[in-house]
Amino acid sequence: MNFNDSQEFADENISIAKGKDGFALENYFYRSDVIYQRELSEIIFKSWFYACHISEIPQNGDYKTVEVGEDSLIIARDKTGNISASANTCRHRGARVCTQKKGNAKSFICPYHAWVYEVNGKLIGARSMGEDFNKDDYRLKKINTHIFEGMVFINCDPEAADFKLATDKLIPAISPYHLGNAKVAATRSYPIDANWKLVIENYLECYHCGPSHKEYAKSHTLRDEASKVAHLNEAMKKKALEEMGFQPQFVAEVTNQYLNSPVFGCDISHLRYALYEKYKTGSLDGQPLAPLMGDFKGYDGGAGDFQFGPLTFMLNYPDHCVLYRFLPRGLKESEMELVWFVNGDAVEGKDYDTDRLIELWDFTTKEDKFIITQNNQGVNSSFYEPGPYSPVFESLCNNFIRWYLEVIGEI
Ligand code: FES
Ligand SMILES: [Fe+2]
Repeated sequence: MNFNDSQEFADENISIAKGKDGFALENYFYRSDVIYQRELSEIIFKSWFYACHISEIPQNGDYKTVEVGEDSLIIARDKTGNISASANTCRHRGARVCTQKKGNAKSFICPYHAWVYEVNGKLIGARSMGEDFNKDDYRLKKINTHIFEGMVFINCDPEAADFKLATDKLIPAISPYHLGNAKVAATRSYPIDANWKLVIENYLECYHCGPSHKEYAKSHTLRDEASKVAHLNEAMKKKALEEMGFQPQFVAEVTNQYLNSPVFGCDISHLRYALYEKYKTGSLDGQPLAPLMGDFKGYDGGAGDFQFGPLTFMLNYPDHCVLYRFLPRGLKESEMELVWFVNGDAVEGKDYDTDRLIELWDFTTKEDKFIITQNNQGVNSSFYEPGPYSPVFESLCNNFIRWYLEVIGEI
């Protein structure tokens, strides 16, 4: 590192960056450990993000872990059927108590000195700790949970705002998919050698879609300027309301994200946009991939684009939904996780083919992985000088960065 990585230097750089609205960030923000630690404490560990779907932990004792930064978090269904989350860090001397990524357990026995915890984090066994030791004082640290449409969201901040107040606003747009009864058809993880902000920025703009995603760009109108595809969006909305019988709120836009989010960490957005004619869904040839979901009686020619918190997004087609979660794993390492949902009673091999189901977004995400890696390498160059965002296509990136600078500059 060729700079003095101090808190004072961070504040100085944040204030300079705030004065360059409309431009990408200096490479300092992708290289500084001081900045990365602020991001973890002020953004990542204070935001709601997706952990898993309730159907992945159906039995009492089922659990799954989520890795974020250097941390591991446990999401589990306890012996009463309640879903809760805890930090996977022993309250004795800190070892990870759960060593598997998922499974079923009556309790977790710490591999170091064998303290015993229930899967919901309650300490139930600790040998030779003296008479004054009270087990109730040493449960695994609690993580907040919020279940929305079957999706378990978590937030590590004890003071986290209630996510329900935000997510309830999305019910008219999302409930027709019946995600609470949906099935996780596939999950894929894409590790990427890039700072997490570059991954988010890439998701927030479709300026790159034409040049970088030839297959995606054939079907999704988001790659075009809004005025050029307005007629397609109008036709899709008419079809959704008049032929499919959905309420106007099903196609209504919601933009409560970043500085427009009334409460920190609870960002939400929704946009339903058209696919090009002949495309019914997000497949390579436009043909259906799975049975229609929930209340859908047919294809309206649209896709619903959602945001849940600063790190989780979802793209919903009438026959399947794809969730995207982006988490940092280090200063220059991130994880993109994609989850494909189909109707709850759909049967693999009969109603859908997993390879075909994931084809478009697996392919598109690998393309994204390539361009984001190039971006990460490029911004780390000493020749890199931030350029302007496209006012037509990259305003959301600019909104994200404006919000980001406010948050990490406030401490
Ligand atoms: S670190 Fe877990 S029991 Fe000692
Ligand atoms: Fe992309």
